Amino acid sequence: MSGPRAGVPLIEAEDVAMHFRVGSALSALVGGRPALVRAVDGVSLTLMRGESVGLLGESGCGKTTMGRLLLRLLRPSAGRIRFDGEDIAALSGAGLRRFRARAQMIFQNPFEALNPRFTIAAALAEPLENAGIPRAEWAGRIERAMELVRLPDPGQFLARRPHQLSGGQLQRVVMARALLLDPDFVVADEPVSMLDVSVRAGVLNVFREVRARLGLTAIYISHDLALVRYVCERTVVMYLGRVVEDGPTEAMIEDPLHPYTRALVAAVPTPDPDQSHAPLPIGRGAPDARNPPSGCRFRDRCPLAHDRCAAEAPRPTRIGARTVYCHLHG
Ligand SMILES: Nc1ncnc2c1ncn2[C@@H]1O[C@H](COP(=O)(O)OP(=O)(O)OP(=O)(O)O)[C@@H](O)[C@H]1O
Ligand SMILES: [Mg+2]
Repeated sequence: MSGPRAGVPLIEAEDVAMHFRVGSALSALVGGRPALVRAVDGVSLTLMRGESVGLLGESGCGKTTMGRLLLRLLRPSAGRIRFDGEDIAALSGAGLRRFRARAQMIFQNPFEALNPRFTIAAALAEPLENAGIPRAEWAGRIERAMELVRLPDPGQFLARRPHQLSGGQLQRVVMARALLLDPDFVVADEPVSMLDVSVRAGVLNVFREVRARLGLTAIYISHDLALVRYVCERTVVMYLGRVVEDGPTEAMIEDPLHPYTRALVAAVPTPDPDQSHAPLPIGRGAPDARNPPSGCRFRDRCPLAHDRCAAEAPRPTRIGARTVYCHLHG
């Protein structure tokens, strides 16, 4: 056996949904009914140990919500998520604490992720203290994490506050913070989107390197296919709360199966992660998760839609190592 798909699953999400009720207080006052936002609406996803998967799609398609569900920062409205064979909804006490250490989020905005009044040392000590790590281990763990993200000589940073670091250094500290408790699984939510283009590649390289050295299972969330391509061998494309395509990144770029993936690929001119993008060739028509189209969610923007697409939601079709949700293939 070879390749990351061979092996043991670490994460298994089964038909997971997250529906938010919004506007209830205000709309109730004026006699309206609360709307339901179908942020995630029936997603199944398996990650093998050590696998690194990009979660790709436009703003509002449910990427962050999916990441938060997998970390049990949200409770799903439906479906089940297993981590290392255990249903995470059933965890409590010591089991939940262990899960919290093993599954970590790397946040999008390093300037918000760290309290501006805390020193870097305090920001790094906090998760260790919360997890009940003996104080005698703190210095060693902090030093190792800082070394992993290539901030050697931690003494240089520890006494400083966030505003005294560059954006790139700060994002590395945020990454180090997520590594302190030896996680198996990390969700990185657009970790470079707030950074200057000139430092992105450096931070991405650190992420790739750390992932490989620690054998992490990782989800890399982005709306940017060029970045996902740089970091992940497999990509899951989401559209309006659902998966539309899932498979090896390079194969997907070479021959996108779903019309939405085709549009995303067409908008990426080169593999250069610093390159700017062409607009999506499917028009804007911002999808609304409160009122998704019947059948295939993508059909009202799809140049190839036909009658069946309105009538029936496409079921997953396996084509080699890939899965596509589209009537053109099913
Ligand atoms: N707590 C919440 N309450 C109500 N609606 C929410 C909540 N969180 C997210 N949503 C809605 O769910 C949908 C998906 O949001 P989500 O943040 O997961 O998207 P995303 O793909 O991460 O987008 P972006 O690329 O902009 O970060 C959006 O319509 C969003 O407005
Ligand atoms: Mg998001």
